[in-house]
Amino acid sequence: MNCRRRHLCLFSSLINMIYIHIPFCLRKCLYCDFYSITDSSLYEAYTEAVIKEIKEHKGKNVETVYIGGGTPTSIGDGLKSIIEAVTDNFYFSEDYEFTVETNPKTSDSLLINEIAQMGVNRISLGAQSFIDSELKTLGRIHTSKEIFDSVEAIRRAGINNLSLDLMFGIPNQTIETLGKSLECVLSLDPEHISAYSLILEEGTPFYNMDLSLPNEDTEREMYYLINETLENNGIYRYEISNYAKKGMESKHNTRYWKDYEYIGIGAGAHSYNNGKRYNNVCDVGKYITGSERKENITFISHEERNLELFMLGLRLKNGIIYNGEYPEKVNPLIKKGLLELCGNNLKLTPRGTDLANLVFMEFTND
Ligand SMILES: C[S@@+](CC[C@H](N)C(=O)[O-])C[C@H]1O[C@@H](n2cnc3c(N)ncnc32)[C@H](O)[C@@H]1O
Ligand code: SF4
Repeated sequence: MNCRRRHLCLFSSLINMIYIHIPFCLRKCLYCDFYSITDSSLYEAYTEAVIKEIKEHKGKNVETVYIGGGTPTSIGDGLKSIIEAVTDNFYFSEDYEFTVETNPKTSDSLLINEIAQMGVNRISLGAQSFIDSELKTLGRIHTSKEIFDSVEAIRRAGINNLSLDLMFGIPNQTIETLGKSLECVLSLDPEHISAYSLILEEGTPFYNMDLSLPNEDTEREMYYLINETLENNGIYRYEISNYAKKGMESKHNTRYWKDYEYIGIGAGAHSYNNGKRYNNVCDVGKYITGSERKENITFISHEERNLELFMLGLRLKNGIIYNGEYPEKVNPLIKKGLLELCGNNLKLTPRGTDLANLVFMEFTND
């Protein structure tokens, strides 16, 4: 299939970020509380509903598109129809970034090849670990070998912007097994990596299981090992959990962390558009029927948005340009060694990065 992307329309000035949510997975992983379901009988109706919503935004200029989930590639042909609707209805900037999330069980070479030809130029692949026993413990449906096979298919399709998701602090993981996973990661030469420490989310099977988890010190050591190994190999941390080769930072995520508006399409997707924030109903059935699709429409005040941007900016390695905001919160955090001023930039210290959640709680608790 030919790539039918259309370039920017001069009469439509606003540049947008589009997020499309595909809440389907072949099977739920034991740790995951992202909203996704496994009912394949809904693929077709969901695809139609998403395409209908895409058409409501027809004619918009876009700079970044991110199709996430769930596992967007699990719906196969539906995904291709959605990508086709995106390229038919939006105008793309020259340096656009078009990402699709996938996992190793759903990224066969035919599908990856087709979506690359349609204009997708970035793939985010959920690897998590390269140790088969760890993948099994997590409830993943793929092996380490299948991660290698998927990367081969992705590269063969001409995708030169690959991101891998990794997890650490997972049951029975050790510094040694993490080291082995990192060796595999480096051998695949990805442009970008997201590394998340396992969070035990309420409502997931992991939450109630008796798991043998690495202790806090080991988990911190794991975080340092990831930083050091990647940075020694030219992949630099630019946000708490994100690493990239120079110039390959995710454009889409970087714009979320700055003051860009975005349009969310699909069940549960959030939007921030014309100063208004709203989300689509987080239920595939209700989303498909279109009843009460948009929920919680609120105008967000300048103060709320500024606080949000301030906290998002602190997640970045270089922090934010500091103009003296929130001194009653910032100064004590500097004294405690959790924040630091470097020239005009306010950023988390290494200890503040370890305790980032505590730092952010200071700004949200009043
Ligand atoms: C939508 S998934 C990525 C794509 C695909 N569904 C997959 O899993 O391969 C987003 C990522 O969030 C991370 N994640 C999900 N639940 C998590 C949890 N409880 N703790 C830490 N990371 C988690 C995983 O690394 C996962 O790859
Ligand atoms: S981690 Fe990915 S594949 Fe696993 S349940 Fe969550 S969204 Fe689905």
